[in-house]
Amino acid sequence: MTYDPLLRALPATLDELPTPVLVVDVDRLDRNISDMAGRFAAAGVRLRPHIKTSKCWAVARRQLAAGAIGFTCSTPAEVAWLQEHGVPDLLLAHLPVGPRKVEFVVAAAARGGLTVALDSAEAARPLAVAAAAAGIVVPFVLEVNTGHARTGVEPDAAGARAAELAGLGGLRLRGVQTHEGHLAAHRDRGARERAGTAAGTLLGEIAARLRADGHELDMVSVGSTPGATSAPFAPGVTEGRPGTYVYYDANQVRLGSAALGRCALTVLARVVSVQRSGRAIIDAGIKAMSSDTIAAAGSVGVACDPAVRPVPGVVFAEANEEHGFLTGGGAAALSVGDLVRVVPNHACGTTNMWSHVVAARGDLLLGDWPICARY
Ligand SMILES: Cc1ncc(COP(=O)(O)O)c(C=O)c1O
Repeated sequence: MTYDPLLRALPATLDELPTPVLVVDVDRLDRNISDMAGRFAAAGVRLRPHIKTSKCWAVARRQLAAGAIGFTCSTPAEVAWLQEHGVPDLLLAHLPVGPRKVEFVVAAAARGGLTVALDSAEAARPLAVAAAAAGIVVPFVLEVNTGHARTGVEPDAAGARAAELAGLGGLRLRGVQTHEGHLAAHRDRGARERAGTAAGTLLGEIAARLRADGHELDMVSVGSTPGATSAPFAPGVTEGRPGTYVYYDANQVRLGSAALGRCALTVLARVVSVQRSGRAIIDAGIKAMSSDTIAAAGSVGVACDPAVRPVPGVVFAEANEEHGFLTGGGAAALSVGDLVRVVPNHACGTTNMWSHVVAARGDLLLGDWPICARY
């Protein structure tokens, strides 16, 4: 039997919700979407948000309506789900390695509108062979390392690698791509902006060199939320792929990419026990929050009141699976039944824990939105 009280009926107000529950503030969401879309439109740069942050069609629809050209995806499930919704322009920005993924990519590319990221001949060759066998050509972007050092060819090797992959047959080089994730290491805003501009500029220069080698490129793609005010606006960059901006989160607040007042995603919880002094236990643990960056941040998230104002003197210090431990001087003021609204460290990790998110405007509940394409 499925036990989900929200399946019966959505209550009218936040305080009537069963907890824990994932909540999105629609006014904050809409503001995040329109601000980012406005900045990109003003600069004439295309916006291809990463769908991993919301995995939610009600959110994706709003991003498309605000001018997004399509989406960035990490998984075949995200691609398949967005294709079902008829989204015409998708980038699978995760290297498609392994026979089933290759098979999926060929079938999805045959439907049209899919570009994939590649960085090596080892990853590209099985895809090239399968595409040629299916009689199609799969468009790809060459992923380049501009400092994050995760995947991506080194800049000096980009020319040779592009020629190698483009020569395999079954594949068509349409651009270059980078994820400037290393910007999260820069706490200083000025240094972060300079590093973002440097990453975008480097990618633009690599694209210019590839064009000089005879490649026709229409896609020079950077992507991250910490870099969303710098990298996409560097010379030669055609598009940006921020994802987290749609909700923001406590990590982005610590980094300085957003104020707490911009965070649209929260986990609503209740205090369930105050048996030990200086410690209140809530009904949201790591299965509600995810354990993403708890160690680095020293907290599971920012504990707030129902209006999303931090509860003074309260730290969400640690968590078990379904129990959260609120400590600090302010915890003594909490009573059983009190509502606590937690801004997660990493919105994308938290989203992936949930199958639905309740949409709210202030205290009023508007709907219960499905979250799709989770692991
Ligand atoms: C390839 C790629 N593009 C874009 C993004 C979006 O970055 P952010 O989560 O900082 O918005 C990510 C995030 O991991 C990514 O891996």
